[in-house]
Amino acid sequence: MTPEDPRPASCEALEPAARAVLSEAAYHYYAGGADDETTLRANRAAFERFYLRPRVLRDVSEVDTSVELLGERLSMPILLAPTAFQRLAHAEGEKASARAARAAGTLMVASTLSTTPIEEVAAAAPGPLWFQLYVFRQRDITRALVERAEAAGCTAICLTVTVPVQGNRERDTRTGFRLPPELEMANFAGLRQAAFPDDAAGSGLAAFIGREFDPTLTWGAVEWLRSITRLPIVLKGIVTPEDAALAVEHGADAVIVSNHGGRQLDCAEPTLLALPRVAQAVAGRIPVLMDGGIRRGTDVAKALALGARAVLVGRPVLWGLAVDGQAGVERVLDMLGGELRRTLALLGRPSVRALDASAITEIPGLILPPR
Ligand code: FNR
Repeated sequence: MTPEDPRPASCEALEPAARAVLSEAAYHYYAGGADDETTLRANRAAFERFYLRPRVLRDVSEVDTSVELLGERLSMPILLAPTAFQRLAHAEGEKASARAARAAGTLMVASTLSTTPIEEVAAAAPGPLWFQLYVFRQRDITRALVERAEAAGCTAICLTVTVPVQGNRERDTRTGFRLPPELEMANFAGLRQAAFPDDAAGSGLAAFIGREFDPTLTWGAVEWLRSITRLPIVLKGIVTPEDAALAVEHGADAVIVSNHGGRQLDCAEPTLLALPRVAQAVAGRIPVLMDGGIRRGTDVAKALALGARAVLVGRPVLWGLAVDGQAGVERVLDMLGGELRRTLALLGRPSVRALDASAITEIPGLILPPR
């Protein structure tokens, strides 16, 4: 008899294990979406509209999952999405995630709202690292962030465009989401921006975003960013062909099809459905990435077949981090990478480059799981 492996065997199975160790407020902050969480559920459900078309009798003894992205070769087309406040999950927080990304040969996108300063995240795991940027009303704060990310060795700036105002996250209103006193927004240590407003009822994050983020942002911000950095600019949150065309026009180096994991505009289209139309509009001029609901290697294969160069993973990384720190995140990446490898073999496509529209078929109908 072989010994049992007690560890959760899939990303989905990690969530209850993480919930057991997280505070109530942290769990709901990580898990939740906006309003009725329709988009949160639709992001997942959209994967069930698509089925894979395996080809057989092809030599799949060697499977290559590696991919080239903005001049870097990554071991697999799976990146760590930017997620805020990772030290709520584990004391090592963002450093543990960055080390796990490095160990797996991929990269992490470090959030502006990190609980570890960008310099320390970069030092923890030298190598490709993208910095996710929010634009503050005080532009000098934003400029300083970009300069620090560059100086720390970040290899791209990922401008998130989905948060002109915060989505209505009712779970956080209910829990009165706050950072515990020992944590702060470490990129702003010593500034007012390190903490949430202390007089706000409900979600402290909602109050913070309302006070600090710049809602006047337009495409001019992309040009401004271009004028202050030599790093590649990745726009995160492009979901229409119209905006995809504008992104290319304004000199973006890549776009991420993302609805912020269903946390911003509820009833926004699921990203897997938006992806092929964005990819068509971009027409190969720049890489198209996507995130939202990736939980299996087959999900990654579907996204790639629909035109993504790579995908990003949000919540599963937080579940792995909560359960077992760096080792937990490594486990998530190992599971997803292993699943992708097996999927490619079973699909008769021994490399990610061989994944195209011939690998996928759509069976319309989107059945949302119950709330
Ligand atoms: C996020 N996301 C996010 N995005 C961003 O650009 N900056 C940020 O600080 C955060 N913070 C954040 C916190 C938490 C708890 C979550 C769950 C998400 C969005 C994230 O980058 C990504 O778009 C989604 O998480 C992808 O969906 P999945 O993989 O979580 O389904």
